[in-house]
Amino acid sequence: MSLFIRKPLSQLLAQAEDGEKSLKRTLTATSLVLLGIGAIIGAGLFVRTAAAAGGHAGNAVTISFIIAAIGCALAGLCYAEFAAMIPIAGSAYTYSYATMGELVAWIIGWALVLEYALGAATVSIAWSQYLNKIFGGAIPFEWCHSPFEYLVNRNGIEVVTTSLQAGEAAITNGIINLPALLILLLISLVLIKGTQESAIVNAVIVFIKVAIVLIFIAIGWGFINPDNHTPYFIPQGDPGSAYEGFFNHGWGGVLRGAGIVFFAFIGFDAVSTAAQEAKNPSKDMPIGILGSLVICTVLYILFSHVLTGVAPYTDFVNAGKEASVAYAIQTYMTGYSWLATAITIAILAGFSSVILVMLLGQSRVFYSMSKDGLLPGVFSELHSKFRTPYKSNMILFVFVSIFGGFFPESWAGDLTSIGTLFAFVLVCIGVILMRRSDPDIPRTFKTPWVPVVPILGAIVCAIMILGLPAGTQLTALGWMVIGLVIYFLYSARHSKLRNPAAAKK
Ligand code: ALA
Repeated sequence: MSLFIRKPLSQLLAQAEDGEKSLKRTLTATSLVLLGIGAIIGAGLFVRTAAAAGGHAGNAVTISFIIAAIGCALAGLCYAEFAAMIPIAGSAYTYSYATMGELVAWIIGWALVLEYALGAATVSIAWSQYLNKIFGGAIPFEWCHSPFEYLVNRNGIEVVTTSLQAGEAAITNGIINLPALLILLLISLVLIKGTQESAIVNAVIVFIKVAIVLIFIAIGWGFINPDNHTPYFIPQGDPGSAYEGFFNHGWGGVLRGAGIVFFAFIGFDAVSTAAQEAKNPSKDMPIGILGSLVICTVLYILFSHVLTGVAPYTDFVNAGKEASVAYAIQTYMTGYSWLATAITIAILAGFSSVILVMLLGQSRVFYSMSKDGLLPGVFSELHSKFRTPYKSNMILFVFVSIFGGFFPESWAGDLTSIGTLFAFVLVCIGVILMRRSDPDIPRTFKTPWVPVVPILGAIVCAIMILGLPAGTQLTALGWMVIGLVIYFLYSARHSKLRNPAAAKK
């Protein structure tokens, strides 16, 4: 029974007020919206849109975005209720500790590692692609790609692939992604210095990022070639071709596309991980979460419409596979090479802010788990001057680097999507359970139409999980099994809630 021991809400809230030892409250509603947009617009838009369009959804990637946005909005409404009610660091992990008990909380916390740590890794890989674009491809392939990626020549075009075709020889293959490691190191250092400073850097970057998305939409609109927009859905390919399988054309492709571009929305929930640092959490958290989500959804739909109008989606599996937006501008928008350069610089800055929020979120989830005794104390040790969990930041840097340096973008990205979707499903269910178990707690923000909204949220997110590749699903399952082993070997024995004696030490 004690596996499902629930953390009393009063204890959670008292922990948040734990003066001296707690994190500083410095973030306003505006900084939370900015934090959200900072986390949201990134590799999902500038890399994964093209991947989803080229391989699966075609022009209908706009519909993929709509499906993903619906799932996020429904889950976001659930997140907002929790974030306003339980405004302390840790996000979905913390909410589930209060609602569904320790084991489920651990499972969510473990899934959130996929979201934040692998999310940061994915974006660092995308950062590396665009950095190489700035240098005109001068970084040797081996040093900016993982060992699982090959450079091949297909019909005279150099293509990056993770799977060689029968009889195909690679020109070269990756060794380590050094630029990805570099950016992860820089951001980790910024985070160690402190959240307030990070928030200011973030606000500047968000401004640049939104501006560049708007400029691309405005200028690119004039370069849309209507021929590129037909057919809207990818037609079924010949047997053996890339567009043959169920998830590679038509509505099946749109569904897989939704799972892929879902990545582009990840981050609005990262706002909730900073709840303990918000000045007025009950009002500001819902604004932060939902506000950033709405703004981004509108931008994404317009952006993907323009991108697939400027370049045919088939380009994005070949020459335009990496740094796809810069590619589309350089190839199809004559006279705008300055825009390609400007956009690439902005994207590099933009990705940095995403990595920042992801790593921030991850260290805050670990902070909470460590405070609860489920992870070693090193993850909640604060720096005496900066008051940041600096040791956790350093350990995370090493962990995330393994994926950033040695994994292909698509693998890390799909795993990120699945981990996040899984956490969303559980948060949706949590809202329903908590309404039943603790109906009287003041809820400054209430999810509308409970249980309809949470149930629909859980269903839409579960469908997106099913649309992702089977290999990703199995890897995520393996990750969860490892998590359970750690839970039973370490966390259950050290849990402060289950071992009050240990908590007092
Ligand atoms: N939503 C973030 C991105 O697109 C994770 O990069």
